Amino acid sequence: MNKNLNWQKHAIKPIDRERLMEHKSLVIWLTGLSGSGKSTIGNSVEKQLYQKGIHSYLLDGDDLRQGLSKDLGFSEHDRSENIRRIAEVAHTLRQSGLVTIVSTISPYKSNRELARDIISDHFFHEVYISCALEVCEQRDPKGLYHKARSGQISQFTGVDQPYEPPTSPKLTLPTDKLNIEQASLTLVHYIVSKVKEARS
Ligand SMILES: Nc1ncnc2c1ncn2[C@@H]1O[C@H](COP(=O)(O)OP(=O)(O)OP(=O)(O)O)[C@@H](O)[C@H]1O
Ligand SMILES: [Mg+2]
Repeated sequence: MNKNLNWQKHAIKPIDRERLMEHKSLVIWLTGLSGSGKSTIGNSVEKQLYQKGIHSYLLDGDDLRQGLSKDLGFSEHDRSENIRRIAEVAHTLRQSGLVTIVSTISPYKSNRELARDIISDHFFHEVYISCALEVCEQRDPKGLYHKARSGQISQFTGVDQPYEPPTSPKLTLPTDKLNIEQASLTLVHYIVSKVKEARS
């Protein structure tokens, strides 16, 4: 921490922004294997929230890796730094009043706990997009499993790097059992119940 820096006092507080938006803000952190359906569900949920007048933004891991984190690779250190950056952005978007949906593999528990610390437990909703590795591999929407199995890419989660599933997620969506509509509707209902609930 730099002792010469101070947190600035904002005249407009997150609670003022929630009043303006007419709903609360939170972070939905989608974690799961590549191909489990995080981006697909994130997009579908965002569309449905938009139609309901709920302000949201989908922070997709793939997009961020092409910009904010384009200097990073897939080592344990770089994955951790990538998650730290995403969590800081999610925290800022959340403070701006948005329902912020993060879609990124985030395979390590310790990294997700770091994200929880940055965002704060109260606003951090871990959602496990669960799907058997074989099913993800069969879907292989970006051809990445094929590349990982044939040695064209390394450090790929589920192939030569581990995935640590959440132990107590707020919600689990098994996409090898629920279809896209069922999984996204379940998440939409969950979000609406949280952001529209009576202020305590
Ligand atoms: N029930 C389901 N939920 C979500 N996606 C599904 C489902 N059934 C089939 N799919 C398909 O699985 C694929 C999931 O790909 P998607 O890009 O959303 O995964 P991802 O988790 O974002 O992967 P990555 O971590 O590589 O970005 C899509 O092609 C989608 O159409
Ligand atoms: Mg994705």
